[in-house]
Amino acid sequence: MKLSTKYIRPGMKLMRPVFGPNGELLLQRGVVLTAQYIMSLRQRGVLTVDVEGPKEIDEEYREVLEDEVRQDVMNTVREWTFNSRQTSVQRVIKKVEMIVDEILNGKGVVGNLTEICSVDMYTYAHSVDVCVLSLTMGIQMGYKREALMRLGVGSILHDLGKSRVPPEILNKPGKLTPVEFAEMKKHPLYGYKIILESGDEIDPESASVILNHHEKYDGNGYPRGLKGDKIDEKSVICAVADVYNAITTDRVYREALPPHEAYEMIMAAGNVMFDCKVLDAFLKCIVPYPVGTFVALSNGFRGVVSRLNKKLPLRPVVKLLNSREEIDLMRERNLVISGLIRPEEIFELAKGGVLGATTSTPRGVVRNS
Ligand SMILES: [Fe+2]
Ligand SMILES: [Fe+2]
Repeated sequence: MKLSTKYIRPGMKLMRPVFGPNGELLLQRGVVLTAQYIMSLRQRGVLTVDVEGPKEIDEEYREVLEDEVRQDVMNTVREWTFNSRQTSVQRVIKKVEMIVDEILNGKGVVGNLTEICSVDMYTYAHSVDVCVLSLTMGIQMGYKREALMRLGVGSILHDLGKSRVPPEILNKPGKLTPVEFAEMKKHPLYGYKIILESGDEIDPESASVILNHHEKYDGNGYPRGLKGDKIDEKSVICAVADVYNAITTDRVYREALPPHEAYEMIMAAGNVMFDCKVLDAFLKCIVPYPVGTFVALSNGFRGVVSRLNKKLPLRPVVKLLNSREEIDLMRERNLVISGLIRPEEIFELAKGGVLGATTSTPRGVVRNS
């Protein structure tokens, strides 16, 4: 499970490797954290890591891309961004092809997208996440391989222009001044220019995604303030994926929103920020309360999400922590999920043995009312 480095403790075991800002491997999968490791991770600005958690969460945990594939793609994009004269964009395209095939061949990717977010704070991890999210939406919308490739190349390079934004603006922990924000807003245009100047063969549709990924349905986006259907669909897909990934990832200046809040925020953005048609596809791809999420109910009980209700994603089946009972919120309409139990609290519950009872509970016991 993902845990903020604020809450990690010596003795916890890493479920996934931890990489630094330049793609260097900091700690291997399987390493048991020590006080020294923890201090060093915090000093390097690592905000979240994956540690072994209670069974309910880890059993459901599935990565869309293997760590090695993700790292390889990130390195290629970084290399091309800083050295496009020596490296051909064809290498980036090849990597996108690899991702498209992984996703097309993968099983059960749709509906498991929450896991690919909040990986870490770095631009290249963000680029890969946005690419995978965009492709999954593309598949949901019926795109075939060729169209997916154009969408994938555009979305993996969408923030390319950030390489021309001064790092002190890009990595500023506080709020940007109006002048700094104006500079930041130039990155879609910078990215588009880099592509044109590189002389590399890139499909115009992919280049449009780089230029248009901050345009908004109501015309309040940038750089051109395009409105409604003047914004091409692939750019809208990338824009939704971009916003979702940004709000569900820890940043230096704010903590990530939990999936259900991000879900509701995106749901409310229909025909204001994004075209409703694309939003509908997106909402089918993500789950507000993934299986294994620890939640508090409006009657004060606490439990873990054990099954999803496809028709009503906000009302899953919840297994109570203090009994062996499963409550189907689709039937128990007077109850709602009132909040999430924080990861650090889950470790405390596990230590106190509260989770033990739920681990041994047979699945499929649903209370009828
Ligand atoms: Fe951007
Ligand atoms: Fe972005």
